[in-house]
Amino acid sequence: MQRSHYCELSPLKTDTTDQTDNTNLESCIGHTIILNGWIKKIRRHGAISFLNLRDRYGEVQLTIDTEQYPSLGPAVEQLRLEFCIAAQGIVQLRPENMQNPLMHTGKVEVFTEQLEILNSCEPLPFMLQKEKDQVGESDGGEALRLKYRYLDLRSEGMQKRIILRHRLKHQVHEFLHQNQFLEIETPTLIRSMPEGARDYLVPSRIHTGKFYALPQSPQLYKQLLMVGGLDRYYQMARCYRDEDARGDRQPEFTQLDLEMSFVQGQDVRQLIEDLMCSIWHKVLGPKQSRKLSRPFPRLSYQEAMNQYGSDKPDLRNPLQLQDFAEFAENSDFGLFRQCLADSAKKGCVKVLVAPKAGEYCSRKVIAELEDEAKKYGAKGLAWTRVGSGSFDGGIGRFFQEQFTAISQRYGLQAGDVLFFGADHWTTACEALGAVRKKLGTALNLIDKDTFAFAWVLDFPLFLPTDKEANDTGTANTGWAAAHHMFCMPHPEYIETMEQDPGAVRGNIYDLVLNGYELGSGSIRIHRADLQERIFDIVGYPKDIAQERFGFILEAFRHGAPPHGGFAIGLDRLAMIMAGKDSIKDVIAFPKNNLGQSLTDLSPGKVTPEQLAELKIAPLPEQK
Ligand code: AMO
Ligand code: AMP
Repeated sequence: MQRSHYCELSPLKTDTTDQTDNTNLESCIGHTIILNGWIKKIRRHGAISFLNLRDRYGEVQLTIDTEQYPSLGPAVEQLRLEFCIAAQGIVQLRPENMQNPLMHTGKVEVFTEQLEILNSCEPLPFMLQKEKDQVGESDGGEALRLKYRYLDLRSEGMQKRIILRHRLKHQVHEFLHQNQFLEIETPTLIRSMPEGARDYLVPSRIHTGKFYALPQSPQLYKQLLMVGGLDRYYQMARCYRDEDARGDRQPEFTQLDLEMSFVQGQDVRQLIEDLMCSIWHKVLGPKQSRKLSRPFPRLSYQEAMNQYGSDKPDLRNPLQLQDFAEFAENSDFGLFRQCLADSAKKGCVKVLVAPKAGEYCSRKVIAELEDEAKKYGAKGLAWTRVGSGSFDGGIGRFFQEQFTAISQRYGLQAGDVLFFGADHWTTACEALGAVRKKLGTALNLIDKDTFAFAWVLDFPLFLPTDKEANDTGTANTGWAAAHHMFCMPHPEYIETMEQDPGAVRGNIYDLVLNGYELGSGSIRIHRADLQERIFDIVGYPKDIAQERFGFILEAFRHGAPPHGGFAIGLDRLAMIMAGKDSIKDVIAFPKNNLGQSLTDLSPGKVTPEQLAELKIAPLPEQK
């Protein structure tokens, strides 16, 4: 039998992303076609067998009558699920009572005249059902699905998502090409450059004792491209970070990385916003893209933390944190007053009002929420319920006198629950932010059908660190770069940066979507003198900075233009667009949470000869 190419089957195509018009099917009726695919379902009724044949484009029923075609009998006998077969037959309309409205091709069947088994399939290690298509943490079979990823990839859900990812990337290329961006590849064997995570190292055979690193991102290369005058660069860059995998993190992932010269932060954000809207429009369709509210809301880091207790707030969640200092100060609750009095710690007291949560918030639930707050460093989670005319339970007794004023200020209703955080500003915000997140889900406050983008701006440039000299070789100055070391401080901080690094805000912006950090960028430093001062603050004195980053400092001394850029986590973007909560669901061959690939069993051992060639001696085995 001649094997057809898929394009000849276009009338039967039911591309999961681009539903083909049913009239195509009807136009095919009476034609002989050849189909190649896998057996999804077999039903045998005496001489008649019904097979569901599946390929990337969809599924169709093959009807086989061995009374009419006795030569097909032996092959039909052998058929099992996931056998790869070719079938030739006539497309015919099914009798009305046999039509399946749930199936895209349910009006027709292929009455099979010839059948060839192209390959058999061993008994399946798991069922490839539609409902079971996802690889999730909760799915006990995850390891099995990763081991037999090629089988999992045949499932409709996986195929849909892989196609979605492709279409997303296609639109990125299209949009950026139209906007004069050049796609440029940068090396993946580079020198070790700290960017917050641990590097994956690759030993050099020729240069004994020296190592390449795999890039955590193409950050410095894209900046060098700007110095090179290639003023609009992008790339879908593979990035490697030796950190623990979890829902939205993989050790190996893809960034849509871009950089532009002669721009302000606003220009970069505008471009990214246009890009996102074009992706929504082209990939998810006009109905979804109309739901995006533009311009995307903008919050400063300070506002995001103050109102939502997170630098990546999910704006679908209506709950907000509010300041409670004015009432805390006037109360007899010592804990809150002490906290506010401790000016060295910049203490604050915040409140989160959970409307109508009284019934849900049992003692047990409150204890669970307190545990959540403690994960973020809170010492406890004070609470009280709103009764009719007074507070009820928890720390309410300290605030009864102020009940009316507090009720008016926060618009309280009987049945509401109040949660409090009293601590250093960051801790109080983050702890209540975590409670806000839990309550948003538990109280069903989140509209899963919407996409809430937001910009978070003006992050701190430096964060305090209590780490001793760390694995990046820096001296401990007490400060580390909050994002990375190449971000431009806002001009008003530059002159006196060294005096109070903690106060410096950078021209740094994140794009947040539904509570995930989707991407990050900044305006960069393009002058060597300023860059050297930043290096110094985070613990690279001049000589060490010169040794490790001399090349970028030198580039900055050769007419480097002002520039800025952005990087979007492509896996996260595809995951959210696909409505999933693990990036494994949109990666063809992901690693498990221990960083292993169960498909090819990497990382694996290498031979003593390979190590000898690299002049690497294994450490003696530990007892
Ligand atoms: P950043 O480190 O914030 O910035 O990374 C940018 C985006 O990449 C995604 N991301 C990840 N996705 C999956 N698994 C991971 N382990 C992982 N780590 C990060 C996130 C994140 O927002 N060079 C800078 C960008 C710039 O300044 O232009 C950078 O890499 O979605
Ligand atoms: P205590 O007086 O220690 O029994 O605490 C009274 C309530 O305040 C308890 O519900 C604690 O969980 C809570 N609590 C303790 N420390 C803090 C804090 N720093 N912020 C918010 N609540 C706290």
